[in-house]
Amino acid sequence: MRFGFVTLFPELIAPYFEASILGRAKKNGLIETDYYNPRDYTTNKHLKVDHTQAGGGAGQVMFAQPLDDLLTEVREEDPDVHIIFPLPAAKPFVQSDAKRLAGKTHVLFVSGRYEGIDERVIERHADELFSIGDYVLTGGELPSLVMCDAISRNIPGVLGNEDSLTEESFETHLLEAPTFTKPENYKGSLIIKEYLKGNHAKIHALKRKLALKKTQYFRPDLYQKANIKDSEEKK
Ligand code: ADE
Repeated sequence: MRFGFVTLFPELIAPYFEASILGRAKKNGLIETDYYNPRDYTTNKHLKVDHTQAGGGAGQVMFAQPLDDLLTEVREEDPDVHIIFPLPAAKPFVQSDAKRLAGKTHVLFVSGRYEGIDERVIERHADELFSIGDYVLTGGELPSLVMCDAISRNIPGVLGNEDSLTEESFETHLLEAPTFTKPENYKGSLIIKEYLKGNHAKIHALKRKLALKKTQYFRPDLYQKANIKDSEEKK
């Protein structure tokens, strides 16, 4: 999978691919990263990429020409590229999007800075728009990395252990049950006894029950979506 990042600040993004799981995925050739700086596509002598807002308003907006030229060039080079704009005013990015996008060959994230991007660039080039939550960040770099990370771990081979993907939070609209490791007694606090008895059917049933309780408590909205049968709810 090729991941492209359109950004004025590639140095904010690149280090993330130098360590841990994505570092290994990159070394193993499972993912590739490209960077495109809109400033390299400017035609004005001061290399400006932003102007004041039409109609007034605080802050600058990234104007159309550099981004439009850049995105046109990338699309010409690869017509299959899937262009994503991270924006606070968009549909939420969720696990099923991460899974679906892992099937693409080339995903490009376009990070805005300042007060945003001229809407006409978005209209001309976006395949999808996503928000990563109801808060406003200073730019699209972190949302791009968040989405890239969530997509990458769904690419076969990226996680050493593919089992990690099967019982995961959100796969079933449920939050994951608590997990533990050694020691059994940590400062007087014990691991749930059933987890230590080795009866996998029982452990599975208990984890399901705990996942239901946790979801009901922390995320009643997800719990509704999970469509739990009455018989299970009463357990
Ligand atoms: N850019 C700024 N804030 C954002 C958010 N919450 N989601 C996606 N892109 C953003």
